[in-house]
Amino acid sequence: MSAPKAWGGRFGESAGRLVEEFTSSISFDKRLWRYDILGSIAHARMLANTGIIAEEEAAAIIEGLKTVWNEIEEGKFEFRTEYEDIHLNIERRLIELIGPVGGKLHAARSRNDQVSLDVHMFVKDEIDEVIGLIRDLQATIVSLASSHMGVVMPGFTHTQRAQPVLFSNHMMAYFWMFQRDIERLSDCRKRADRSPLGACALAGTTFPIDPKQTAEELGFAHIYENGIDAVSDRDYIMEFLFALTLVAVHLSRLAGEIVLWSSVEFGFIELDDAVATGSSIMPQKKNPDVAELVRGKTGRVLGDLVNVITMMKGLPLAYNSDMQEDKEPLFDAVDTVKKCLGAIQLTVSTMKVKKEAMERACEQGFLLATELADYLTRKGVPFREAHRAVGSLVKQCIESGKELRDVTVDDLRSANPEFGEDALLCLDPSRAVKLRTGRLGTSPEVVRAQIEEARRLLAGQDNLTH
Ligand code: ARG
Repeated sequence: MSAPKAWGGRFGESAGRLVEEFTSSISFDKRLWRYDILGSIAHARMLANTGIIAEEEAAAIIEGLKTVWNEIEEGKFEFRTEYEDIHLNIERRLIELIGPVGGKLHAARSRNDQVSLDVHMFVKDEIDEVIGLIRDLQATIVSLASSHMGVVMPGFTHTQRAQPVLFSNHMMAYFWMFQRDIERLSDCRKRADRSPLGACALAGTTFPIDPKQTAEELGFAHIYENGIDAVSDRDYIMEFLFALTLVAVHLSRLAGEIVLWSSVEFGFIELDDAVATGSSIMPQKKNPDVAELVRGKTGRVLGDLVNVITMMKGLPLAYNSDMQEDKEPLFDAVDTVKKCLGAIQLTVSTMKVKKEAMERACEQGFLLATELADYLTRKGVPFREAHRAVGSLVKQCIESGKELRDVTVDDLRSANPEFGEDALLCLDPSRAVKLRTGRLGTSPEVVRAQIEEARRLLAGQDNLTH
């Protein structure tokens, strides 16, 4: 049968193998070992400073914990299912190493505040990493946008060609989405920056602990106000998962466009061979797998969010074992989003922009119809009437197989007599783009201003995270 339990005093027989395996979380929570040891070192120091244990005892515990740290780092530590989770695995080894004094570490603490502490620390660090990766992607977007400033492409609504826009403006749209993702993550980090230590199981302790000291040593800005809350909630995890889901959704939309644009039908970009694969049957194929998988993985991340929210709803306060189920989705979501960020960064930084194809696409599909309607409006024709006149012109063109660039002044005049010779100037996509100088317009000057602001934000990146 299995090894004696840390909590075995109350129990007659040891648990069967099936139950041990079912309840154990060590296979996944071992990933939290660094935070667990750092938390324990801070706790041991606090126990000595407050006189709860002796200085020499704390020193022995801290020495022992450092040995455990080295053992894990060197791959020499044996993680055992029968010791349930990372907390008990480490404590068990500590006692093996330094003897019964190791058992003094868990005074004035419970695994309930301990696990919550570990995950708070994990979330803070991961937020910093994700923000760093988003920054790298944003920097790539900015350099792509600034090196392709003159490129005009069709902008789309309903996946139908709508109006010409600057390719740079289209790409910068993603910069701002990711910027809001960073803001959301930074905001979520503020709420994760709160130490639950001191709550113990839920009711606090009779020992004269100093939660402020442990919080400060571990780099927390705050401590929880309420111990029951501290061990009960996982809102900082759900919030992080939601922020990650939005990052995944933004990545998915970008990836989806990359898939479309790299098709022969669009031909707007050419992917580097490094981010494409071939077909096992069709020799001609170059498939945009990396982008497709980024798009496809969004469902996992949303699933992870739904998983944790559903698990949490309806749980009575305070700790419940259900909450052990928070870790795998958390780890999965953060790993997935980090991988996707790296994959899209590689895709975007190596893709070739096909300027001619984008510009050619602006010549078909009546993208400049709005320019003609605006021309009439400037001549005093009510916009609705102008809209109708240009609509009927487009209809005639479709019937006679013409594009707008083929129309004559006579064609225009027969649609509405207010059209003059100068109306033909409207039929230049670059001109249409250049004239959109209002804020939120797509002119080069507006896009240049965005790029400048984006560079300013990228340069000041450190202020944002903390
Ligand atoms: N492995 C547990 C978890 O991940 C740690 C806390 C366990 N507490 C307890 N009383 N069983 O949530």
